[in-house]
Amino acid sequence: MKQLWGSGFSKALNKSTNDFNSSLRFDKRLYKYDITGSIAHAAMLSAQGILTKEENELIANALKQILSDIEDGNVNFDFDLEDIHTFVEKLLTERIGDTGKKLHTARSRNDQVALDVRMYVKDELENLLKQLVSLIKVLLSLAKEHTTTIMPGYTHLQRAQPITFAHHLGAYIEMFKRDYERITDTFKRVNILPLGAGALATGPHNINRYKTAELLGFDDICLNSLDAVSDRDFVIETLSDLSMIMMHTSRFCEEIILWASKEFQFVKIDDGYATGSSLMPQKKNPDIAELIRGKTGRVYGSLVSLLTTMKSLPLAYNKDMQEDKEPLFDAFDTVKMCLSILPEMLETITVNKDKMLKACSEGFLNATDLADYLVKKGLPFRDAHEASGKAVRYCIENDKTLDTMNLSEYKKINGLFEDDLYAAIDIKNSVKSRKVIGGPAKEAVEKVILINEEWIKQHG
Ligand code: ARG
Repeated sequence: MKQLWGSGFSKALNKSTNDFNSSLRFDKRLYKYDITGSIAHAAMLSAQGILTKEENELIANALKQILSDIEDGNVNFDFDLEDIHTFVEKLLTERIGDTGKKLHTARSRNDQVALDVRMYVKDELENLLKQLVSLIKVLLSLAKEHTTTIMPGYTHLQRAQPITFAHHLGAYIEMFKRDYERITDTFKRVNILPLGAGALATGPHNINRYKTAELLGFDDICLNSLDAVSDRDFVIETLSDLSMIMMHTSRFCEEIILWASKEFQFVKIDDGYATGSSLMPQKKNPDIAELIRGKTGRVYGSLVSLLTTMKSLPLAYNKDMQEDKEPLFDAFDTVKMCLSILPEMLETITVNKDKMLKACSEGFLNATDLADYLVKKGLPFRDAHEASGKAVRYCIENDKTLDTMNLSEYKKINGLFEDDLYAAIDIKNSVKSRKVIGGPAKEAVEKVILINEEWIKQHG
């Protein structure tokens, strides 16, 4: 078969070489960006007097027609062709003849592919920002319902101190807000135009790259042509942002899986988002949460895959870089799916407040409050910590809890203990007392919720 570049070759490409080489199978999804980029490129060439007005109009109209034909499903992709750029150009020349061949003036597929991928990433990042805001909104409204829902906070997966469910959810809100900021920051580096770099060294034509940037909504242009065609930092950075999002969703899903287990029973996943077992009739499995947790692996895989592909590549473009697309597409598809189903599952989750509270009554979650009680009576924290530790040991040895130990038993450990200790170690009071901003008390959480509602207003 005849290639775009075939004239200098003594024979046509083997079928197997062609199949191996072609990226059309997967880069066809870039058609919209390829066409839009070409329309802008032709407009710039015409503004610079490199194409006539008529030529530009002919090219632009044909490209627009090709775009709508592809969108309507009226175009058959010829997978013998090398890539989406070749395919669009071939369609164009088939439709308008020789004028179509002028489009590639002052351009190479190397800067063209870099442009297409940047445009694709920009669109997907914008979608992702919207999805993150939706997720944060759901978390925020769930948090608002649960500012007094007391649950154990954990360290080392051991019950540590009582907190509220709202406070726990608030941690994830912060993570997803950071993800949002990270993407916004990445976007700035994606939004730089590579077109005009040519194959690697620009060209002799009097093009205006700033004009193309303006037409396509890019903030600036890549300042080095070698870098413009060989840079995939923006893809790697994007994959790193996506990996971070998945890491956050994975941690959250892991907690949901634990909370939904018989051992915890803190939440019940709605039947619409759980599955059964083909063997054990009693089972309800948290498949959605598990799949989100599991899919994290493939997104990390995409990041590592491209980092490895790019390692040691000499400047400028190398065909290795064609391998950027499949991991990138797969990562976006995966994250998109996860961020679409996660809020749905959360909106339908049932929270078992009683179980959460009950879990706070075992495990000495108020031992720190006991120590802090003594601190307030003037004892240095280290000594208070030791006294509280002794009380815990006494309880374990005598099958008691800190609430059922009587005052005379407490007095044997430290004379500073008085009757008011019981109010200080009450689980509800314990949460109430930690009202420092950032803490679990209703008062503190509500302040943060207000801040986050303002954040939503600015970003929603
Ligand atoms: N399909 C190629 C890619 O995705 C496009 C650029 C090819 N350039 C070249 N000179 N072979 O990277």
